[in-house]
Amino acid sequence: DWTADIFVENTVRELQEKLGDDKVVMGLSGGVDSSVAATLIHQAIGKNLYCIFVDNGLLRKNEFEQVLESYEGMGLNVKGVDAKEDFYKALEGLTDPEDKRKAIGRVFIEVFDREAHTIKDVKWLGQGTIYPDVIESVSVNGPSVTIKSHHNVGGLPEKMNLKVVEPLNLLFKDEVRNVGRALEITDNILGRHPFPGPGLGIRILGDITPDKVRILQEVDDIFISGLKENNLYDEVWQAGAVLLPVQSVGVMGDERTYEQVVALRAVTSLDGMTADWVHLPYEFLADTSNKIINRVKGVNRVVYDISSKPPATIEWE
Ligand code: XMP
Repeated sequence: DWTADIFVENTVRELQEKLGDDKVVMGLSGGVDSSVAATLIHQAIGKNLYCIFVDNGLLRKNEFEQVLESYEGMGLNVKGVDAKEDFYKALEGLTDPEDKRKAIGRVFIEVFDREAHTIKDVKWLGQGTIYPDVIESVSVNGPSVTIKSHHNVGGLPEKMNLKVVEPLNLLFKDEVRNVGRALEITDNILGRHPFPGPGLGIRILGDITPDKVRILQEVDDIFISGLKENNLYDEVWQAGAVLLPVQSVGVMGDERTYEQVVALRAVTSLDGMTADWVHLPYEFLADTSNKIINRVKGVNRVVYDISSKPPATIEWE
């Protein structure tokens, strides 16, 4: 019988045998998988696990500070790296979604590599790979390859001559959550919606500027906080806002405005492969729309995405 407690006990012991006094470096994302994997490795080898959490400038509002604080609270040996400017610079003028993904992935590897090299004699790269990732990375076609190429730090182990340690690579998502609970990881991390590696970079359609990021962070924060306050957050598998590359005419007082449009997206899903849009209450949508338009300068229209996957995808890019 599989239980999370026994898995933790066995895995920590195996990791101790495998890793001995070796040092491990690992990138954290704020997501469930990397957090649970890091906690297991930390239980096994303590301070010999060096975690790196990169601010790519495309995270949610206050996410970097909050997640870093949670990690520190969990006792992890973690270094927060502000690399916002590196990412913005690499993204300047890029509009094609795949070009943006590639640039974000490339800069991530550069920053991570730079940081990892400051740790002496590191032998292993820790990763939060779970079983479905293992299967997906074997399939040759389709978007999964692109997805995995980003968040699994592809190419890095070879480049740095590191061995890979992946304590979750036989588990499914719900099992990972159970392990996380057995490890007493906070709900603030375990209950969080999935968030793509390229972050807001693929929710700002077209080119990315720091100003657009700030606008979208404000919009997203109003939407996500609203879901939480209305007890809707846990009913939804993933939610977020998209900044559209169009302006629309509006009216404010006696003035004509010509400003940005944002789309809100909320879906239910099991694994992200298929998804349905969530029938959020009209009252909630009305309230959220008013708040966004009143509070976020530069936005004068809010629309709600009512497309399911397939044929649409969850993200717009
Ligand atoms: P789509 O848009 O393909 O998204 O329906 C399915 C799930 O994958 C996430 N996603 C990504 N995750 N890097 C990631 O790490 C990516 O480039 C990427 N693109 C999409 C998306 O947020 C959803 O959960």
